[in-house]
Amino acid sequence: MALGVLADRIAVITGANRGIGFAIARTFAREGATCALVVRDRAKGERAASDVANVGALPIVVEADMANRTAIKRAAEELSRRFERIDLLVNNAGILTDEDRRIPASRMEPAIIDETLAVNLLGPIAMSEALLPKMGRGARIINVSSTMGQLTDGSAGYAPAYCISKTALNAYTQALAAAVSDNGILVDSFHPGWARTAMGGPNASVDPDQAAGVALFLATRPPGETGLFWRHPGVVIDW
Ligand SMILES: NC(=O)c1ccc[n+]([C@@H]2O[C@H](COP(=O)([O-])OP(=O)(O)OC[C@H]3O[C@@H](n4cnc5c(N)ncnc54)[C@H](OP(=O)(O)O)[C@@H]3O)[C@@H](O)[C@H]2O)c1
Repeated sequence: MALGVLADRIAVITGANRGIGFAIARTFAREGATCALVVRDRAKGERAASDVANVGALPIVVEADMANRTAIKRAAEELSRRFERIDLLVNNAGILTDEDRRIPASRMEPAIIDETLAVNLLGPIAMSEALLPKMGRGARIINVSSTMGQLTDGSAGYAPAYCISKTALNAYTQALAAAVSDNGILVDSFHPGWARTAMGGPNASVDPDQAAGVALFLATRPPGETGLFWRHPGVVIDW
């Protein structure tokens, strides 16, 4: 039997082949969880799984493009067949496109906002809904958000599609938390920090493993208030 604070827990992590999602998978596996890596490229997922297996149980790899509802439904069906229950869902996969970084909110490209909302908002909604029937009392849904979606701070107009998608993801966190609180399921958003990944770039200040530490904190925090927005090292912040 695996030892660690997540011993015997089943964790599903989207966008788990690299960056923060991969760091979360490794951290959870090291703590004894059995992980399912949801990825859009199986070969990349298998490589990540074998790296994760260096520190914990070999994860399973499930394919889904998070912009594709049918693919998400298929992935959720596969996960539901493979596991009797799911304890942790981390909606991590996300995009911040180069066009979005360049184009102001006064000239937003429909294709960019569509794609960004599909991956960053509609994907997490579809995945959460599809897996909720497998999630019982004590289960957690953890949405990887960003302070760029924070209405009380925000990004001064930078990357508008991304910011809007994270503001909306936070609104979903609150709504879903209220909807499932009677079932004993906690739903949170968190800001991982400006992390050194393909998205964050090489000059970012936070190591992905440090960002994964916040996910671990949320996976193990004592039951209590739900529907909160967190940042490192486990501090609640304004929406
Ligand atoms: N890095 C930061 O500073 C920072 C700050 C705040 C919030 N965040 C959030 O943290 C999360 C992870 O970001 P990261 O920095 O680790 O980014 P990353 O290094 O760019 O990794 C993004 C992950 O999402 C996956 N992904 C993207 N589009 C997908 C799709 N359509 N279907 C399935 N998977 C898809 C990627 O898979 P592929 O390898 O197949 O592309 C990859 O695994 C995101 O939600 C991001 O918004 C990051």
